[in-house]
This record gives sequence, structure tokens and C-alpha cells, in this order.
Amino acid sequence: MPRAPGSMCPAQTQLKEGTPHMTLTTFREAPTATFADQLGSAFPDHGTPDPQTRLSLLGRLHEHYVAYMAGPEAFASIPRLNTDPEITAIEDAWLAWEDAQVDTADLPADGAVFREWFLAVADAHTQPEFCDYLAQEASLEEMALFFMGEELVDSKFDDLMAMVQIGTEGHTKLTIAENYWDEMGEGDINGVHTRMFEHSAVYMRDRLDKAGIDRGQLYCPEAYENACLLLMYGIHRHLNPRALGAMGVLEQSASPRFQAMVDGCDRLGVPSDVIDYQRVHVHVDADHGAEWFDGVFVPLVDRSPALLRAISIGVATRVRVANGYYRHIWQAMRALRD
Ligand SMILES: [Fe+2]
Ligand SMILES: [Fe+2]
Repeated sequence: MPRAPGSMCPAQTQLKEGTPHMTLTTFREAPTATFADQLGSAFPDHGTPDPQTRLSLLGRLHEHYVAYMAGPEAFASIPRLNTDPEITAIEDAWLAWEDAQVDTADLPADGAVFREWFLAVADAHTQPEFCDYLAQEASLEEMALFFMGEELVDSKFDDLMAMVQIGTEGHTKLTIAENYWDEMGEGDINGVHTRMFEHSAVYMRDRLDKAGIDRGQLYCPEAYENACLLLMYGIHRHLNPRALGAMGVLEQSASPRFQAMVDGCDRLGVPSDVIDYQRVHVHVDADHGAEWFDGVFVPLVDRSPALLRAISIGVATRVRVANGYYRHIWQAMRALRD
């Protein structure tokens, strides 16, 4: 649910520095309700979710996914999938809640109408007002806060791309491989997208720190929904079609937002090298969106109604979650002016 304008996330988290990406440490506060009650208030069948409980459970899920995606040096502490019953219960409750938000009457009935439906959904997801604000009005601190919000997802994007390729074949596999090769900077270490992103993030993190702005306000249910959705879809093999749908609409709708970030940073005098990542993605993601449609969706959407439905639910859910996230982060940005 969108929060009232100007209101902030519950600031009950503590950030632990020392790694390039922050981890959260205080989600396991002593529960005041039973775990089942927490699930019920975070993901209710009816009514408004309780934001504090939702943040707590989704934060816990994010912590689990970050640990799961850790590198080889962390092998001894990488959690096994599906062995923690509470993590599984959070995933099941959240997935059911998200599915209940999708109006299945709006989903495409067959592959023939998928194209028109998908392009209309992606086009409506480009947030032109927010893009105008980034390009023309946002201060450097507001821009920096937005960059930091993006960090929760973008810093893991290449691993997600590799994970969704598993099990695909033919043109689908090749299209994802080409996309992944772009993520790898086409073999140039300095062009690896996550590396370029980190270069941006270092600069923007420093701007926020120098301005004394607490990044804790980013840690809200909307940010964790946005980050956890792709991770949940990418990690769990049975959710692969949803991941393909979500990543497709992300690629298809990202270019205008990257262009707005570039325009806004140019206006603010941000050094050119800091926004290389965003500049590259204006064009790369436009290509990725078109290639994903032809190479990933076209071969799959006619295979079965169930597959089409799963891909479409992934598209619709990503849009719902990302819209909520952009609404929230825009409020948080504007609140910096108060
Ligand atoms: Fe990328
Ligand atoms: Fe891309």
C-alpha cells in the first residue's frame, strides 16, 4: 500500500557497514505475536498489510537470499534452500498475497494477444512524472537516495540473469546468454555492469554521508518487495516463468528511467564517469527489451496456457511491486526538502 505523502519507513533497522552492500541485523526482534499471526498481518487475506511486520518478514527473506547468493568463499555459511520452515512459510504467504493482487481477467488469454498486452503494460510502467522529476527537479541528495534504493536489486542483477537461463533452450537460452554477456561488459572487466554500478554507488553513498542523510529511510516494505521479488523468482526453479516475465518487463521499461537519471545527473554536474552505468543502460536495455520479447517470450507464450499465465503473472506482479516502490522512494526523496 502506498504510504501517506511525506511519511517515512519504520526506522527500526540498523545498517551494518563493512561490505560493499549493507546487511540488516535487527529483523529478529523478540516477536510480540506468534509467527502465524505475523504472517497474517503482513500478508492478510483482506485489508491493509501491517507495514512493520511486512518489513520484518521481507527483511528476513532478503537476508536469506543475500546469504544464499554469496560467493564461494562463504560456502560454509550459505543456507540450503527450502530447509527453514519459517522462510518457506514467508515465501508461500507472500506469493499467495501477490497472486491475489493480480486481476486474472486482465491477463492475456493467448499468445496472440500477449504482445499487445505486454507492450501496453510495459509502456504504462515507465513513470513519466517520476522521470521528469529526476531529470528536471531532483537535488543531488535526492538523486543519491534513489541510486541507493536501486542498489538492493541492481547489485545482484547479473547473477539473476544467469539463474533464469537454467533449463531454457534454443533461442531463449541464446537471448539470455547475449544479455548476460552484456552484463559481463562483453569481456571487459571495467564494463561489467555490477562493477560500473558500484562505481556510481560509491559516489552517491558518499554524497549522502557528507550531507548527513540517513539511508535507513530506504529500508521499508516497498524496497524489500522490489528487491526480494526478483530474488525469489530467480532462486526458485518452479518460479522461473515468473522470473522471465518480471525481468522482461523490467528491461522493456527501464530505458526512460535511465535517461532521466543521466539528464538529472548532467544537470547537477555529476562527473560523467559516475553515470556510465546509467548512460550505457539507456540503449542497452532498450535493445534487451526488444530481444527479450522476440527471443524469450515469443518461443514460450504459445507452449501452454499455464506457462503463458505464469509469465504474465510475473509481468503484472513486477509492475505492481515496482510501482509501489517508485511511489515510496519518490516520497522519501521529496521529504529530504522538508
Ligand atoms: Fe545491465
Ligand atoms: Fe538489461
